[in-house]
Amino acid sequence: MNKPADIELPELTDADLAEPLTYGVEAFISREYAALEKELLWPRVWQMAGRVEDIPEVGQFFTYNICDDSIIVVRTAPDTIKAFHNVCAHRGRQLIDTPDDVNSVRGTRNKFVCAFHGWTYDLDGRNIYVHDAQDWKGALTPERTCLSEVRCETWGGWVYINMDPNAEPLRDFLEPAARILDYYEFDKMRYKWRQWCIFPCNWKTAIEAFMEPYHVAATHSQLLKYGDYYAYSKPYGYHSVSGFDERDPAHKTAHSTGVTRAGRKDVDPRISTYELIRENYETVNFSCATETLLNAARRLVDELPPGTPADKVMAHLMASAKADDAKRGVIWPEIPPEIMAEAGLAWSLFPNQTILQGVTFALCYRTRPYGDDPDKCIFESYALERFPPGEEPKTEWVYAEPTAEKWGSVLAQDFSNMPYVQKGMKSRGFRGALPNPHQEQKITNFHRHLAKFMGRGMPRKLEG
Ligand code: FES
Ligand SMILES: [Fe+2]
Repeated sequence: MNKPADIELPELTDADLAEPLTYGVEAFISREYAALEKELLWPRVWQMAGRVEDIPEVGQFFTYNICDDSIIVVRTAPDTIKAFHNVCAHRGRQLIDTPDDVNSVRGTRNKFVCAFHGWTYDLDGRNIYVHDAQDWKGALTPERTCLSEVRCETWGGWVYINMDPNAEPLRDFLEPAARILDYYEFDKMRYKWRQWCIFPCNWKTAIEAFMEPYHVAATHSQLLKYGDYYAYSKPYGYHSVSGFDERDPAHKTAHSTGVTRAGRKDVDPRISTYELIRENYETVNFSCATETLLNAARRLVDELPPGTPADKVMAHLMASAKADDAKRGVIWPEIPPEIMAEAGLAWSLFPNQTILQGVTFALCYRTRPYGDDPDKCIFESYALERFPPGEEPKTEWVYAEPTAEKWGSVLAQDFSNMPYVQKGMKSRGFRGALPNPHQEQKITNFHRHLAKFMGRGMPRKLEG
């Protein structure tokens, strides 16, 4: 990826991320920095614009707005999705109106007609009508009157756009994370629900609240009864993973349930596994598990004898949930154990996409700037799940105020930090961040790559 040619930044290696580092607050609170992001970051990076399932039919489109740019993502043929800047070549009216209080506009067209003077474009972006074209004396060539195309590629059922025509292929950008995540077959999952809101903090403050599990002990302390949640984190190119360490072998990790330490030495793992899955499911807005897993977990006490060790409990749970799902037509992907271990609990894809994955579900977040205000962002979250064919729910984006009633009590706990991180970082008394070198490498890896785009803000080693 290019960086501003005149600025040389010190490089940080992956190994450096394990050292104590610090970085400043400019990226979070400065209006000038937010304006620079519009020039240096967003026009040059792959961004997840939406899901393939949003536009199953030819002519269906959705808009993806990032700062002042609006992109139309449209299915132009059964097997082709294209993206265009949402602007008429005549005098610059948006072709699709994108009000500030809508996170994504959806619709169906067989052509795009500009409301101002009627210039018309086919789904491939070619101009097919100019009112009184003869007035231009032949100057209106196809190149002058077509829509401006934007790079558009898909992975995992997501559509990504990049406004930089010279950007590397999406797959190269996503590696080496995609190599692991491919096994989860996110393209076979569908929306379960999707919600968004305008939130009073920077987009980075918001996404970072979901990057690291280091906050679980203090912010989600109700979960401590299931384990101590000692986390690890690791860079994968631009991207990063986190999970929970097997520091205590009695605490078995069940990545595929979104559940981490279901077995404490002092409790019956048949019961604690069920309780943790139920608690996660009910307090994270019915994500981080599925009905199938919950029902299979409920039966553990009947199907296994007392004293069954935690790893056997987990193996039984996964086998019976897999069999239950197969009966209703939900076939689990084959994920080798070593891939499952490497895949950990949650991924952050640079710059603004987060995926907490399970074998048959995912909880995802995306944050974006809202207007030019560094203190505001568009916060979006959605759950994906593998459904029996034909039983996928119909969903739409729902604006939901950031409350426990709308988002579940766990997300409300996360929300309760975010505005006050934003405020706190403005304090004259704040000396810069001190991210955890083991558990918060996702954060420092994010800032490392952000700094390369921005030509500033590279995390540096704490001296002495
Ligand atoms: S601005 Fe679109 S037709 Fe004039
Ligand atoms: Fe959290």
